[in-house]
Amino acid sequence: MKLLVTGGAGFIGCNFVHYMLQNNPSTSLVALDLLTYAGNLSSLESVIDHPNFRFVKGDITDREAIFALFEEESFDAVVNFAAESHVDRSIHNPGVFLTTNILGTQTLMDACRQYNVGRFHQVGTDEVYGDLPLDRPDLLFTEETPIHTSSPYSASKASADLLTQAYHRTYKLPITISRCSNNYGPYHFPEKLIPLMITRALHDQPLPVYGNGLNVRDWLYVEDHCAAIAMILEHGTVGEVYNVGGHNEKTNLDVVKTILDELGKPHSLIEFVTDRAGHDLRYAIDPTKIHNELGWTPKTPFKEGIQKTVQWYLEHRDWWQDILSGDYRNYYETMYGNREKVS
Ligand code: NAD
Ligand code: DAU
Repeated sequence: MKLLVTGGAGFIGCNFVHYMLQNNPSTSLVALDLLTYAGNLSSLESVIDHPNFRFVKGDITDREAIFALFEEESFDAVVNFAAESHVDRSIHNPGVFLTTNILGTQTLMDACRQYNVGRFHQVGTDEVYGDLPLDRPDLLFTEETPIHTSSPYSASKASADLLTQAYHRTYKLPITISRCSNNYGPYHFPEKLIPLMITRALHDQPLPVYGNGLNVRDWLYVEDHCAAIAMILEHGTVGEVYNVGGHNEKTNLDVVKTILDELGKPHSLIEFVTDRAGHDLRYAIDPTKIHNELGWTPKTPFKEGIQKTVQWYLEHRDWWQDILSGDYRNYYETMYGNREKVS
């Protein structure tokens, strides 16, 4: 099995590479990543010389380069993590979200058609369902919930999902889609809530909580998400959408307080700031389908996952301090500057 993992130097992509190399020794992986501000090759440092692994720097919207890579590698499957992923950035600069998230997905699927790739898996998000009210805990997102987006980011991800389904219907492209709730864990870029709060608290800096902090997210430890995607690749039904989430709803304020308690820092670091424009109130996934059809169930309770995550950031200060200082952007040159190009 030869897999193309796009966005493999990002948060979930690199965790997926580590997960697959550990759990599926017969799989060989090519990670393709443009190394935007969010891509960090040092997250792949421990596998860079693994015999079943290759890293390629490239852009999913670059049709010529993508087709050349598919010609060279004969992939059995593609898992598309590559995306612009941060809601706040999409509010400031939507254009690149549309280009990468929609046209990049199209380019990959065109290459899958051309080279008869056996599966295209689109890594989607629960944000395509919009939000749920705070006072209706009985309501959850199912795969049948209508698409109803709030931010340019979620609109671009919904567009990519719709395009993926259209390629299945029109061209019979063998696709699957997963729609996951908020992930957390190692290698999470410190612009997102949990790593931002951990790294700022460690510097005794104020923690910016949007609005009143009562918005709810449904948190999933990243390894559980990786396991779900691996299961969908192996046993999922072509053409289907699978929601992935673990009934772990928390208010942002509760998450931030938990982090402060884990670090032994005072709650007085919390600072309420102007709310995000169009801020979704609540996400909550119903994972019944993936549980019943594929037997997937999340293994990591939030209490354990957040302790592991805080510990990881304490033990990997170099990783995030290089991001804060900008040094990680030199990593590609350091790792690859002197390497010869093979073929
Ligand atoms: P991330 O921003 O950490 O990683 C995205 C990666 O894509 C980066 O390494 C970046 O360099 C790369 N990339 C961006 N543009 C590219 C391009 N044009 N060509 C090649 N590579 C490019 O994001 P993440 O949190 O790891 O999310 C991965 C995927 O999972 C995204 O599609 C996101 O929408 C989806 N998702 C994320 C979450 C979450 O909680 N983080 C939840 C559900 C779904
Ligand atoms: O639900 C899945 C989505 O989760 C993914 O599709 C996105 O790629 C991923 O970024 C994430 O989106 P969110 O907007 O939910 O994540 P973020 O970490 O940006 O914010 C989580 C919550 O915390 C949200 O309600 C906004 C709030 N927040 C965030 C930041 C960065 C704050 O209160 N303060 C902050 O500084």
